[in-house]
Amino acid sequence: MSLNVGIDKMSLYLPKHYIEMDILAQYRGIDPNKWKIGIGQDQMAVPGLGTDVVAMAANAARTILEGEEVSRIDQIIVGTESGVDYSKSIATYLHSLTGIPATARAYEIKQACYGATAGLLLACDYVRIRPDRKVLVIATDIAKYGLNTGGEVTQGAGALALLVSVNPKIMTLEETSYRYTKDIHDFWRPNHSEYAYVDGHYSTQMYQEAFLHTIKQAPKEKLDEVEALVFHLPFTKMGKKALEYYLAEGGPEDKIGEWLAHYPSSTGLNRRVGNIYTGSLYLSLLSFLLESQSLQAGQTIGLFSYGSGAVSELFFGRLVEGYQDHLNKNQVDSLLANRQALTPQEYESKFTESLSLVEGTSQVVQAEDTGIYFKGLVNYQRQYGLKES
Ligand code: HMG
Repeated sequence: MSLNVGIDKMSLYLPKHYIEMDILAQYRGIDPNKWKIGIGQDQMAVPGLGTDVVAMAANAARTILEGEEVSRIDQIIVGTESGVDYSKSIATYLHSLTGIPATARAYEIKQACYGATAGLLLACDYVRIRPDRKVLVIATDIAKYGLNTGGEVTQGAGALALLVSVNPKIMTLEETSYRYTKDIHDFWRPNHSEYAYVDGHYSTQMYQEAFLHTIKQAPKEKLDEVEALVFHLPFTKMGKKALEYYLAEGGPEDKIGEWLAHYPSSTGLNRRVGNIYTGSLYLSLLSFLLESQSLQAGQTIGLFSYGSGAVSELFFGRLVEGYQDHLNKNQVDSLLANRQALTPQEYESKFTESLSLVEGTSQVVQAEDTGIYFKGLVNYQRQYGLKES
């Protein structure tokens, strides 16, 4: 008999600052309804220098590790496409920042927004054959297209940590999944560039086709079982577009109607944070589990992961009795309540600030918030500090 393995705990971390999209749209001379209704974004998280991908990952992980028996964690897997070093993984920093034992493996996975899904599914396979062990999977990213670009409205930043174990408290993940990979250039970031390159409309078309390729592999009985679908959300209109495309291509009308009815509940946090790349699917899952009033334990949810370039996978999870008590709702509420809004000018200056990398010099960065923060570079080595509350 196969074991119940899946998401035991999940925790979110967001930067301290954000910008209202209607204010930024007006500043750019764009009709705010295009961004709020046409694209579906209300706010966007804006990280400063102290809130880098390592700090965000460490802060998300620390919440999960509270009261946790860390000696049972065998691996830290970080999914990211915002790596800070070609060689040293973000996961290695987390060993010292979170106190996970030296016996745990640590590594990073890259495949655009799909990286954390690869980590999560590998983690489940690992725990299925070693049920007394656990794996910590973290998605951490800063999405940057550049100021005044077509992609600007789809930026964001944040980290999400997932603890994988046997008999999980939130969701059991099934072994069955459907995959589709195609070598394309819809979105890419060459090594020289701080910003992503994107063929925007082509990317949305490729996303929809990838969804169609994966869902068409699933038998009707499987889809009948699925109560709702959550999506990788680069912007919150994207999953809805994929469902409508499936309908136009002959997908089951009744079932798609049910999924569309659930859809708005899976977008709440994404509307307020923006694209966090590897974490966006799990941010949508968290939104859905926190917001939906109709979900029940035992129901099956489909998860669609898409990473440009492009790899996609449709997989399934079953809700566990009492899952609502393990979502860290208070932490999510306080993260959102403590954020501070930026003016467009403040956003632009945060966006463009960067360290000038002069060999051998020490540079000090101020903490923006309590928790772990990036302090600066010494001999190109990243330094981290802890700001107590
Ligand atoms: P755009 O050209 O600025 O927008 O690009 P548009 O002209 O296509 O308009 C967008 C929508 O707003 C349209 O609705 C308009 O009708 C509507 P739709 O036809 O899509 O339903 N609209 C309005 N609605 C109300 N009032 C108005 C109004 N005006 C227009 N006044 C685009 C938008 C998303 C392409 C751009 O922002 C972009 O390039 N973003 C980055 C790429 C992206 O997010 N791609 C998504 C798929 S790829 C993916 O998910 C992977 C990714 O996460 C990376 C990774 O894997 O690492 C990106």
